[in-house]
Amino acid sequence: MIKMIAAHDTNKGIGIDNKLPWHLPEDLAHFKRETEGKYVLMGRKTFESIGRPLPNRHSVVLTRDTEWPYNSDLASNDNFDTLNTRVELLEFLNYAEQRGEDVIVIGGSEIYQMLIKSADELIITVVEGDYKVDSYFPDYEQLFEEYERSQHTSKTGLGYTIIRMRAV
Ligand SMILES: NC(=O)c1ccc[n+]([C@@H]2O[C@H](COP(=O)([O-])OP(=O)(O)OC[C@H]3O[C@@H](n4cnc5c(N)ncnc54)[C@H](OP(=O)(O)O)[C@@H]3O)[C@@H](O)[C@H]2O)c1
Repeated sequence: MIKMIAAHDTNKGIGIDNKLPWHLPEDLAHFKRETEGKYVLMGRKTFESIGRPLPNRHSVVLTRDTEWPYNSDLASNDNFDTLNTRVELLEFLNYAEQRGEDVIVIGGSEIYQMLIKSADELIITVVEGDYKVDSYFPDYEQLFEEYERSQHTSKTGLGYTIIRMRAV
């Protein structure tokens, strides 16, 4: 199954200067729970924003640069792979599906846009507020139906809602 997880503000903003626009540790804990033990698929910019492979997950990074990550010891990490083409991406998604493994798409904007129509489920955190952003989550309302929602307030008083949806 292909799942997509993202946090966006009330205008679907998701990032600024290759960082998250808000400080919301509770959502990072939620992200960790949802992704542990899984394949996490991301764009090269999101990987660089995180800065390292996520522990207890298998990181798969899309980049058109066949030399990336250059002289890094990442190449020998068993829990890290790169994909350079759409053909390689399709082969990876088929491989995971045949093994019954979930693939969690974790961003960023370009990768969400590319795969939104392929996702079986969405897990969206809507963060209250209208932040200064330079990247967005695509429109999804017509493609998914909600099946669960929970409202929360962070320790710092920031409101957020976690919405789970499946493809129609
Ligand atoms: N709020 C959230 O939940 C959330 C989650 C994740 C990220 N973000 C934010 O999103 C922003 C980053 O998003 P972004 O759109 O700029 O970057 P991105 O989607 O993370 O990465 C884009 C890169 O992916 C690679 N790529 C894209 N399409 C490809 C294809 N068909 N084949 C091979 N490689 C491909 C390219 O890498 P190369 O240039 O190396 O070829 C491209 O530059 C940041 O601000 C980040 O903080 C927010």
